[in-house]
Amino acid sequence: MSDVDAQGRSVDLTATSLLQKSNTPLPKLSVLFESDPDRVTRDIIGDESLLVDLSRLHLDRQGWSTLLQLADVKNVLAAAKAMFHGAPVNVSEQRPALHTALRGPHAGVDLDSAIEQTVQSDLARMLQFAEALREGRHLGTTGKRITDLVSIGIGGSHLGPAMLCQALPARGPVRVHFMANIDAHQSEKLLASLLPEQTMFCVTSKSFGTQETLANARRARQWLQQQLGHSIDLAKHMIAISSNADRVAQFGLDSAAMLPMHDWVGGRYSVWSAVGLPVAAVAGSEQFKALLTGARSMDEHFLNADPWQNIPLRMALASHWYRRVVGAHSWGVVPYDDRLSLLPQYLQQLIMESNGKRVTVDGEQVSHSAPVIWGGTGTNAQHAFFQCLHQGTDTVPIELIGVAQADHEHDGHHQLLLSNLLGQAAALMQGRDGDADRHIPGNRPAITLLLRKLDAHGLGQLLALYEHRTFVEGVLLGINSFDQFGVELGKQLADRILPALQGEAAPLGPATQRLVDWLRSTS
Ligand code: F6P
Repeated sequence: MSDVDAQGRSVDLTATSLLQKSNTPLPKLSVLFESDPDRVTRDIIGDESLLVDLSRLHLDRQGWSTLLQLADVKNVLAAAKAMFHGAPVNVSEQRPALHTALRGPHAGVDLDSAIEQTVQSDLARMLQFAEALREGRHLGTTGKRITDLVSIGIGGSHLGPAMLCQALPARGPVRVHFMANIDAHQSEKLLASLLPEQTMFCVTSKSFGTQETLANARRARQWLQQQLGHSIDLAKHMIAISSNADRVAQFGLDSAAMLPMHDWVGGRYSVWSAVGLPVAAVAGSEQFKALLTGARSMDEHFLNADPWQNIPLRMALASHWYRRVVGAHSWGVVPYDDRLSLLPQYLQQLIMESNGKRVTVDGEQVSHSAPVIWGGTGTNAQHAFFQCLHQGTDTVPIELIGVAQADHEHDGHHQLLLSNLLGQAAALMQGRDGDADRHIPGNRPAITLLLRKLDAHGLGQLLALYEHRTFVEGVLLGINSFDQFGVELGKQLADRILPALQGEAAPLGPATQRLVDWLRSTS
């Protein structure tokens, strides 16, 4: 097979059949270990803060060399530098993707100084507001301090803050809640538990046009007004985080009650911006800054590390190979830490919304897109879907994530947890001989990723690692990882169906019509 380099030259990668889709069985992992004494040193990479075990993947030295050569041919590093420098890598929308700039300046990256200044002033404003909440200086309309912050937003305007608020310890008096879904079962239960005088809503929406978010924001405003009077100063209980000041103003909040988002940062990459307000409100400014520092250290690793040591690069190459050559349709993520239970959902949006595309930037059909990302928390997951991973007919690559230092005193529990993580990685590879029912074939791939500690710095590293890995996979596929046109049609059709549910005539397909009729006659 051949691939084409940046100059349009065809580069021969047929020295090995490694990149050709193959139906031949995968090599035995145990044999790969036996025949290569360097495997552990070469394929378990990282440092004292983050260690990644890539040794239990079906790739040998030659395989990795070919993949690294592919990364070269595809100019991954040049593409990364272009992204960091603000090139319009989101070609369909002619925008840069500058989430990395939100982490502060990087050595060797000269950014437009206006952007750097904007980043600094936006960060300062957001952190000031978070501290005003934490210190009880931002008072509600009756003069009481705010005790509860409700984050209204969905997708990228929800998953990052929700995941980080769950992962980081609350340090301070402000409790945070999330209202993402349009389902009033969730929002009404939440509102019933809150005191309006002491509740603040942050309405996060880059577009400020997302149906669910606006419906929830209107409900929150109505709830405040019903409880506190129609003449309340809304800004004392509501702040918008958006790139669309006009729509925010139409909603009834002026620029003083708004923190900006920018066109040059995509929603699913935006937790480093003002979108992180709930994180700063709960964990504090210092923790938020540590998150940014952690992410920046991963950025610098990604840009500068030797390819063999480059964690995002090698993880992306592994994932690309399993998808393209082995034909793995799905990829499981299992954090062995309850505080990371939202990580699989966060990664679903990051990876599938970024790389779930069918054409390249040049409009060519791609052979495959992102795998389906799914997961659950260990050890619970072991009692749910691991049976299928061990004895099912599909080979599903799995990523196991653990944390060395627990933030509790119960060492025995933590060791049990970690022994389960390591036990699963070993079992997936080793398998077990037995009669037909008990036989476990083994030879199943797993990546193990270990963090020293689940602190803000480590989380910053981890999320930036996944962002860069997603970016590299996008470059290998030749796609634009920064748009998401696929999500539009369903929203448009929902808008068309809504009048029919309300009893008006609407042109519907026969199946939808039947379901609408049933719903109307049943409700
Ligand atoms: O689901 C599509 C999407 O546009 C995501 O990309 C985005 O994160 C989410 O909706 C929310 O968008 P907004 O921040 O504009 O409300």
